[in-house]
Amino acid sequence: MSSTNDDESSPIWMATVSAPTNIACIKYWGKKDAKWNTPTNDSVSVTLDQKDLRAVTTAAASIKFEKDRLWLNGEEEVGASDSKRFRACVDGVKALAADPSKWKDLKIHVSSYNTFPTAAGLASSAAGYAALVAALAELMSAKETYQGQLTTIARQGSGSACRSLYGGFVAWKAGSAEVSTEGGTPWADSMAVQIADENHWPELRAVIMVVSDEKKDTSSTAGMSTSVATSTLLQHRIAKVVPERMASIEKAFLEKDFESFGELTMKDSNQFHSVCADTYPPIFYMNDVSRTIVRIVHAYNKWAGETRVAYTYDAGPNAVLYTLEKYVVEVGALMAHYFPSPATATTAAAADGYFNDSTFAND
Ligand code: ADP
Ligand code: DP6
Ligand code: CO
Repeated sequence: MSSTNDDESSPIWMATVSAPTNIACIKYWGKKDAKWNTPTNDSVSVTLDQKDLRAVTTAAASIKFEKDRLWLNGEEEVGASDSKRFRACVDGVKALAADPSKWKDLKIHVSSYNTFPTAAGLASSAAGYAALVAALAELMSAKETYQGQLTTIARQGSGSACRSLYGGFVAWKAGSAEVSTEGGTPWADSMAVQIADENHWPELRAVIMVVSDEKKDTSSTAGMSTSVATSTLLQHRIAKVVPERMASIEKAFLEKDFESFGELTMKDSNQFHSVCADTYPPIFYMNDVSRTIVRIVHAYNKWAGETRVAYTYDAGPNAVLYTLEKYVVEVGALMAHYFPSPATATTAAAADGYFNDSTFAND
């Protein structure tokens, strides 16, 4: 944390943090409790390298600020600071500040930039709210009263954000409504848990194919709310499919078994998009290009006689391909053959969590 000193009597305190995105292998899709933003099922994701996909967020606090404000990619999001999501993050972190009285009456200004398409199905809300919570925690020297508490705050910004506070392979445990003696709030145990850290599987790679950088027409929040209300397939998925897949994919990841990891990841992406099609009215996030990539991946794996690459699609048309270092050039060349425009970025998968990015150093 640092302060600018244009006016010694009322400094502006600032902290800047960079947080990665994460792409789920077993998807979160559905809220059990909209107020606390808890999920209908556990989920698990890989944290991607921040080199290519990250949110960079500066949080500033001053007695001179009249109200909380938020700028996203250089444009003010009018009214955003009153939203339930933003309030949960700001008020949640303020409550954990090392010196709560110092920050209580200060208003917060936040400016955030994403280095990748916003609201296009590459988990910008995950990187964005993780960076927001991490920047606020850095600013106020917030301390968790129990392990994972910051992730319970981040998930109230956006569910997937709780998984971006850790590197590697990270699960979001759905949790229970029981009031926790430690946290004092219901759903205090709906939090992210690191299954394996960023050093566990360094050969894992992600190839990101930006099929479209346009803002999606149905936000994740709206889409999953309609799915919960209308999809019978989603109920089957929650009760029967996800619990088994969570156990299997954790084992596969820990054993670095790409064959199983890839197959489970692809099947779960397919089921998530089937749930979207089973939603009424149906939601279509993937497009023809997305589906062509699915076909190419299966044809390539069949030719290779093993699973060398696995696709997954979040709520958008853009592909994330998980593969291993030894196949990444081949996979890149294969995709470039079909899609010659420079739409791909290769990045380390199972990478590190957020880091302090402060450039204003006069602490
Ligand atoms: P995505 O698939 O990109 O996560 P969502 O529909 O889940 O799409 O969420 C997109 C919304 O998340 C944006 O419209 C914006 O409100 C919020 N968001 C995205 N990036 C950031 C950020 N860096 N800081 C704060 N909020 C963000
Ligand atoms: C398909 O976390 O963006 O990416 O909690 O309403 O902000 P809100 O939704 P969000 O949903 C992510 C859905 C997903 C799957 C996943 O990341 O697990
Ligand atoms: Co999102």
